[in-house]
Amino acid sequence: MRTVYLNGDYLPETEARISIFDRGFLMADGVYEVTSVLGGKLIDFDGHAARLQRSLRELDIASPVSHADLLAIHRELVRLNGIDEGLVYLQITRGDPGDRDFVFPDPETTAPTVVLFTQAKPGLADSPVARTGIRVISIDDIRWGRRDIKTVQLLYPSMGKMMAKKAGADDAWMIEDGMVTEGTSNNAYIVKDNRIVTRALSADILHGITRAAVLRLAGEAQMEVEERSFGIDEARAADEAFITSASSFVMPVVEIDGVSLGDGTPGRVSRRLREIYLEECRRTAV
Ligand code: PDD
Repeated sequence: MRTVYLNGDYLPETEARISIFDRGFLMADGVYEVTSVLGGKLIDFDGHAARLQRSLRELDIASPVSHADLLAIHRELVRLNGIDEGLVYLQITRGDPGDRDFVFPDPETTAPTVVLFTQAKPGLADSPVARTGIRVISIDDIRWGRRDIKTVQLLYPSMGKMMAKKAGADDAWMIEDGMVTEGTSNNAYIVKDNRIVTRALSADILHGITRAAVLRLAGEAQMEVEERSFGIDEARAADEAFITSASSFVMPVVEIDGVSLGDGTPGRVSRRLREIYLEECRRTAV
């Protein structure tokens, strides 16, 4: 049985209890982070911790835990659960005011709820899926306008994954005003003539921690990167495509809306970027 973290305590997962009045439960009033673990160490921890603080600030939730404590809790959970490859999920909500009310509770009397748990994912880095690539479909992006805040409102992304599953695909890319925003739980990229194209940062997409690292590494490897929007037709005509996220690293996309990219196998740039990124992860993990 897993040991999880709840508001200062390490507990068996069946003993961690949260109030039915918690605003995370009633209002999706909370934020989260997912940090991957390779070789028992955390990948891009500082980036995830920094984005967490930003998400909290944007929602006016007082940060209940320091950077040092957050790192210590992550490490302790990885140790207690013997995680070699996997994920640490962290969620902070505005807490339990003891009743339902749209108005934010007084932070003096209602403390945020802090939850962390681990997910073991053996084979996360040496994933067989990365060798064949994934297939995506396109769907409308009907999410709210602050996708740069990593909130726990994940109903539409879940529905998107279900639409993909029903269509026999692995994931969905979302389209707004004719342009791809991002994947349901990842950032989206295409490659044409060796040039990597991905949407620029704004409130329209989550500012991926993996995205930041991958674009930096691509630059260092003299690859060309263009940060601009692209449409689904341009994507279908690309040489290759891929997604990035903490849980998939760099994952090749081999099919969009039933159209194969290139020869239908993971492209050279995508494979190289996955390699470079994983190398960097192992070198800088904490
Ligand atoms: N999802 N875009 C969206 C909508 C996401 O949910 C995520 C991450 C990303 C990639 O961000 P990062 O590189 O920081 O993981 C982009 C996480 C992994 C999840 O929900 O499980």
